[in-house]
Amino acid sequence: MTDSDNTQAASSAASSAGLPLAGQVALVTGASRGIGRAIAETLAAHGAKVACVATRVENAQATADACANHSEGAKAYGVDVADHAAVAALVKEIGSEFGGIDILVNNAGITRDQLLMRMSEDDFDRVIGVNLKGTWNFVKAAARPLMKAGSGRIINIASVVGVTGNAGQANYAASKAGVIGLTKSAAKELSGRGVTVNAIAPGFIETDMTADIPENERAKLMGSIPLGRLGASDDIAAAALFLAGPTGAYITGQTLVIDGGLSL
Ligand code: NAI
Repeated sequence: MTDSDNTQAASSAASSAGLPLAGQVALVTGASRGIGRAIAETLAAHGAKVACVATRVENAQATADACANHSEGAKAYGVDVADHAAVAALVKEIGSEFGGIDILVNNAGITRDQLLMRMSEDDFDRVIGVNLKGTWNFVKAAARPLMKAGSGRIINIASVVGVTGNAGQANYAASKAGVIGLTKSAAKELSGRGVTVNAIAPGFIETDMTADIPENERAKLMGSIPLGRLGASDDIAAAALFLAGPTGAYITGQTLVIDGGLSL
C-alpha cells in the first residue's frame, strides 16, 4: 500500500467523533511491532490519528494500515531515532502533514545484553544512543510545538530495570534510568505550559524482544512475578491510553511500573 492509498484508507475509516482521543494526533516510535504497535492501534481505536514511526517506513506500514481502519488518519514513517537531525526533520514533517502533534510516545528501544566486563563500547554507545538519546531527540523536537499549543502528552517507555538494575544489562538499565531522569526533568520544564511528561516502566512483556529468553530462565522468572505471568503488549497500551487521554490530565513526572509485581 502506498502513502496515498493509506491516506484514502484513512479517510474511509469509521468516524472517531465522541471517542476520547478524537481530533488528537499521536506520534508513536517503534510502532512496527510489539508494545509500540499495540500502543499505536489502541490510540487509533480511541480516535487518535497516528504517525507510526519505525526504523524503516515499510516496517511501520502494517501498523499504519491497522490504525487507519480505526481512526481518521494514519501514516508510516522511517527514521533512526538516534539520528538527531533526521528526527528534528521528521517531527517537523509529521507536524505539518497532520496539522500538529498532541501525543508523543517514545517507545523505540533495543537491547545488547552482556556482562559489563565483556560489554563492548559499541554495544554501550548504541543502546544509550537509541534508548536515551533517541527519546531526548523526540522530546526536544516536539517540545516547542507542544508548548506553543499549550497542551500535550509525552509518554516515554522506560523499563523496570531502569529502576532496579539488572546483571547483564548495564547499558540498557542505564539508558532506561536515564529516560526516567529525562522524564522528570522534562515534566518540570514543560508542565507549566500544559504538557504532561510521564514514563511507563514495563517488566517482562511477551514480544520479539523477550522471545529468546531460554525456557529455564523463563520458568525462574515466572516464579518471581507475583501475578504469575509475563505481561502482554496490551497491558502497556492500556496504561499509555490512560496517560494520553483525559484520565491523565493531572499526572506528570511519574513513572508507572507495570511488571506484575516483579519489582516488589
Ligand atoms: P521490539 O523489539 O518488539 O520493538 C522495538 C521497536 O523499536 C521496533 O518497532 C523497532 O523498529 C524500533 N526500533 C528499534 N531501534 C530503532 C531505531 N534505532 N530507530 C527507530 N526505531 C527503532 O520491542 P518491545 O518489546 O516492543 O519494546 C518496546 C519498548 O518497550 C522498548 O523501548 C523496550 O526497551 C521497552 N521494554 C520492553 C520490555 C519487554 O519485556 N518487551 C520490558 C521493558 C521495557
